[in-house]
Amino acid sequence: MDALSDLKAKYLTAISGAADEGGLEELRLAALGKKGEVSLKMRELGGMSPDERQVAGPALNALKDEIDAALRAKKAALGDLALDARLAAEWLDVTLPGRARRVGTIHPVSQVMEELTAIFADMGFSVAEGPQVESDWFNFDALNIPPEHPARQEHDTFFMARAEGDTRPPHVLRTHTSPVQIRAMTEKGAPIRVIAPGRVYRMDMDQTHSPMFHQVEGLAIDKNLSMANLKWVLEEFCRAFFEVDHVDLRFRASHFPFTEPSAEVDIRCSWAGGQLKIGEGDSWMEILGSGMVHPKVLAAAGVDASQWQGFAFGMGIDRIAMLKYGIPDLRAFFESDLRWLRHYGFAALDMPGLPGGLSR
Ligand code: DAH
Repeated sequence: MDALSDLKAKYLTAISGAADEGGLEELRLAALGKKGEVSLKMRELGGMSPDERQVAGPALNALKDEIDAALRAKKAALGDLALDARLAAEWLDVTLPGRARRVGTIHPVSQVMEELTAIFADMGFSVAEGPQVESDWFNFDALNIPPEHPARQEHDTFFMARAEGDTRPPHVLRTHTSPVQIRAMTEKGAPIRVIAPGRVYRMDMDQTHSPMFHQVEGLAIDKNLSMANLKWVLEEFCRAFFEVDHVDLRFRASHFPFTEPSAEVDIRCSWAGGQLKIGEGDSWMEILGSGMVHPKVLAAAGVDASQWQGFAFGMGIDRIAMLKYGIPDLRAFFESDLRWLRHYGFAALDMPGLPGGLSR
């Protein structure tokens, strides 16, 4: 029996000192495994007399149960310890204030595009789109600007490269949004009322020019449209966009190949005290080109010029954004300077309404 109590003391001590589950498993095998010390003792029972066995059997079983129980208890305790350690290491103070996140802002050009889209939508214009890499036919020919036309040079066009040996005329980065007129009419026919805001490109760079800038094209084709409708639409737009009750527009005769007659449009403004005010004063600022769509342009888009007529206009978006929001330098629009964007940008929820409402 002494041997059993030695075994018991040996294993219970070792179990209580085990450092991890691996150590516990080793002890289990050493005591209760097939060749474990307790198991070997069990085998010795076979060679005993019945009387001896009567005493030794229950004692061995009791020892086995005791070691087994100690192993289980220790295993549970080690598990608790591991959990405690993890809880101590991974704790999190949910009462700490969150890290401040800088909220982004909407670029003034995006904001102005949203605003003008909302205003023109209210007058029944939907948005049309075209590619920025455009064929020279859409950008020039279809708009009545043939190859030898001076306007074609004046546009300071960026040409795309063609593979060597490919003699087709190169595509261009569209120099204006006017080609979208052709695409929209070809797709939808007449009557039609669309605007086309987007990027355009010209080889030009100084304080008031950037090689990429934004225009919005307008096009309305119907049976009886005239310059009078053009004037009303532009006045309503300017009133709503610049948030003033009254605007004066001045139509100056001009020339564009794709309109006849053509007019450049100036808006009355004042610069009193260095502060620009729209709708009052004695100064005029040019804001767009416009006119009655040339019959050849209608024909190029498959619209019957003997039945349909209408007006078109093209306006610089960056320019009117600068005017409305008092932004002095065009180049800053495209420099991605975060300080500038934070200063001139708009909150995401600052969605345009229809300021002043349209007078109808
Ligand atoms: N496409 C012209 C430009 O970029 C602007 C323009 C003028 C557009 C007259 C028009 C228009 O639709 O009728 O300079």
